[in-house]
Amino acid sequence: MKIIKSTLSIVLLLGVLLSTVVVQGQATTAANTAVSKVVVTFTGDSTTTKGFTWYTNLDSTNSDLQVCKKTGSTPDFSKAVKFTGKASVSTNSPSEYFHKAEAIGLKANTTYYFRVGDAARGIWSDIGTFQTAPEKGAFTFIDIADTQAKSEDEAILASQTIAKAVATVNNAKFLAINGDLVDTGANENEWNWLLGHSQQSLLNTTILPCAGNHEDDKNSFIEHFNIKPAVNSSVTTGAYYSVNFRNAHFIVLNNNEDSPEYADFTPAQINWLKDDVKTAKAAGAKWVIVIMHKGPYTTSNHATDNDIMGANGVRTKVAPILAELGIDFVLQGHDHIYARTSPIKAGAATPAAKITEMLNGKTIEYTMKPDGTIYLIPSTAGPKVYYKNKKIDPHYYDLFEVADEHHAAVYGPDKNDTRRPMRGQIQNFIGITIDGSKLTAVSYEIDQNKNNAEPYIIDQFGISK
Ligand SMILES: [Fe+2]
Ligand SMILES: [Fe+2]
Repeated sequence: MKIIKSTLSIVLLLGVLLSTVVVQGQATTAANTAVSKVVVTFTGDSTTTKGFTWYTNLDSTNSDLQVCKKTGSTPDFSKAVKFTGKASVSTNSPSEYFHKAEAIGLKANTTYYFRVGDAARGIWSDIGTFQTAPEKGAFTFIDIADTQAKSEDEAILASQTIAKAVATVNNAKFLAINGDLVDTGANENEWNWLLGHSQQSLLNTTILPCAGNHEDDKNSFIEHFNIKPAVNSSVTTGAYYSVNFRNAHFIVLNNNEDSPEYADFTPAQINWLKDDVKTAKAAGAKWVIVIMHKGPYTTSNHATDNDIMGANGVRTKVAPILAELGIDFVLQGHDHIYARTSPIKAGAATPAAKITEMLNGKTIEYTMKPDGTIYLIPSTAGPKVYYKNKKIDPHYYDLFEVADEHHAAVYGPDKNDTRRPMRGQIQNFIGITIDGSKLTAVSYEIDQNKNNAEPYIIDQFGISK
């Protein structure tokens, strides 16, 4: 009896050992899926550096990045430049590491192949590409807002918008996202869905992300993006930072630093903004562009929120500072509707001459040497949309050049929330080109019910300095 028991134990033990080997074997052969949520960002000088973030399980303790110049259709990583980063346990998902690494000493205006992973374990991401910033000439970038999917299906929709934007806007150097990337920053599933379904786009695009109010907790913003926050920036609620790209300086604000003085910002952030603009202009920046999630000039529900229009609100206190600082253009999110303003200074639209040209077979108006800041909200790249604000003083809309009802309104109210138009019908993105003293913006729409859900132009406008 004793012998039978011992034999049984040995057989069971062998079975367990064997199944462990098989499981480990599966993990090893599934190498490319072992590295997830790969995102490329700016970490400093956009001509010579690049930041990378990715996720693995806790077996991959090494954070290896390999980079080689793109000279042919396949990379030769045996000649790669190797960089080592750092792994940290994810706040949202303690069974995962988020890894960050930085490539430095790169050559300007150059395309590179890259892969990230754990060299010792032979686990690598799919191969991606990135470009460093050029030192001269025009450039184009994409702007979107509020991908903010609550389910995997909605994340697929948002990822399709990103893929269509990248395919439509020729040679975009980066993708700016004006906040609310996910609906609940602390829910790692939502990041898995968005970054997972966008992975092929993200492997070949640099992201310029802005934290929205939906990324305001548990380090969820900073752990997904390798950016360089400003010295005093909070990193638990998002982050504020800036990036030079060619003749433009991009300032990404964080509306999640509440204070009595400025509602959504601390005095330290506003002081940094002032200093940062001065430094950038002294260094020769021709354009200064601010990206902020809760913008002062939008046209839906949030336009009448207290943190926007109250005594210490963004419109009341921060917008006049932006005009004083000579900010050219502000990219906003949060209000889930498309709108753009005239130049605004001290709360009023300032008159400016216009020049009309032809572009894409349509007319385009350039505002000439505006004395004030122009604001744009690109509606949403995801499912959630809002009606135009009917509560606000109608004269408020005199500040706008485009302040239409949301195009999704034609599909009627959402059956689960009749305060809003039907979710998931309309998505938008903008292609923005800066060529010397000329900025040209082309706004695209995707209507799931029209044109085979392929993007078409709904608006185009320009600024000439
Ligand atoms: Fe949002
Ligand atoms: Fe928001």
